[in-house]
Amino acid sequence: ALKRSYKGKLQKQNQRSYSYVQPQASYKVAVLGAAGGIGQPLALLVKMSPLVSALNLYDIANVKGVAADLSHCNTPSQVSDFTGASELANCLRDVNVVVIPAGVPRKPGMTRDDLFNINANIVRTLVEAVADNCPDAFIHIISNPVNSTVPIAAEVLKQKGVYDPKKLFGVTTLDVVRANTFVAQKKNLKLIDVDVPVIGGHAGITILPLLSKTKPSVTFTDTEVEELTVRIQNAGTEVVEAKAGAGSATLSMAYAAARFVESSLRALDGDSDVYECAYIQSDLTELPFFASRIKLGRNGVEAVIGSELQGLTEYEQKALEALKPELKASIEKGVAFVQKQP
Ligand code: NAI
Repeated sequence: ALKRSYKGKLQKQNQRSYSYVQPQASYKVAVLGAAGGIGQPLALLVKMSPLVSALNLYDIANVKGVAADLSHCNTPSQVSDFTGASELANCLRDVNVVVIPAGVPRKPGMTRDDLFNINANIVRTLVEAVADNCPDAFIHIISNPVNSTVPIAAEVLKQKGVYDPKKLFGVTTLDVVRANTFVAQKKNLKLIDVDVPVIGGHAGITILPLLSKTKPSVTFTDTEVEELTVRIQNAGTEVVEAKAGAGSATLSMAYAAARFVESSLRALDGDSDVYECAYIQSDLTELPFFASRIKLGRNGVEAVIGSELQGLTEYEQKALEALKPELKASIEKGVAFVQKQP
């Protein structure tokens, strides 16, 4: 009798998980650079999403094992592996969201811009394949320097005649995640409630947390603003130095990227209440690309939330003006990279 009731319970559990999970699992996600430090934990987190039906993992090496390993998790998505350029097109076919963490990470003493030469070529090649095989997909660029790799991706997509600025995103979620964590720690707030918008770009002083717009509303002394801003801007370097040559942020980055993927999938699925910060083509400022809070919808960026740039403090206003020349130069460098080598 005990055996029977256990069996019944198990069946019920399985039925329940099926009826809960099955109808929702319908989106295809590809991770390019899936065997890397970010790619692996990111793939694991995406494998846990009930919204994903297919998880396509691409890398130039070592991705077979990652996929075999992940495929044993009893969550709904089907994991497939794709190795090397000849399998890239198959990896991308019918994909809804493409996440790109391919490329080299920083070592101590390096800036994100030092990665330009290697990563610019990688992003260019991968985005060409995205344009050819899944031009309607949301594209999430993680590979640094994001301030330049997103303009590179935009130029590639334009050359291919498939650029939709509403669907190209530089992933800056980690800056928001860090800002939320550091502010909650400093102010003894419940983490779950804290929300700090981060605007600008994704490198050094171009990362601008708008602490005055923190929710719930909190007050900071001038010293606190200075300390928190600098810590958020240098948080990546904190990790690079702690890892002492073994790379940059991977686990917190995977967490942040998975959050952005999940938000994108919810938006695709019709959720009308999805907001994130991201680095996108924008006319909020005179710069052609700029990170700010956006509303996500079925077609990508549904609205750019410009209101947070109103009523900045003097400190924020100065920091905003100070970041513009650097961000502008990084954007121009990315655009020139593609236009000079058509
Ligand atoms: P990693 O070196 O551990 O992994 C990179 C992976 O990319 C490797 O598996 C490698 O085989 C693969 N790869 C290289 N060339 C490729 C190509 N042509 N096609 C497909 N895959 C290729 O590096 P990690 O730590 O995963 O970092 C990846 C990138 O993410 C770096 O550029 C890093 O700067 C950036 N990053 C971005 C952050 C952000 O907030 N947006 C935060 C942290 C890192």
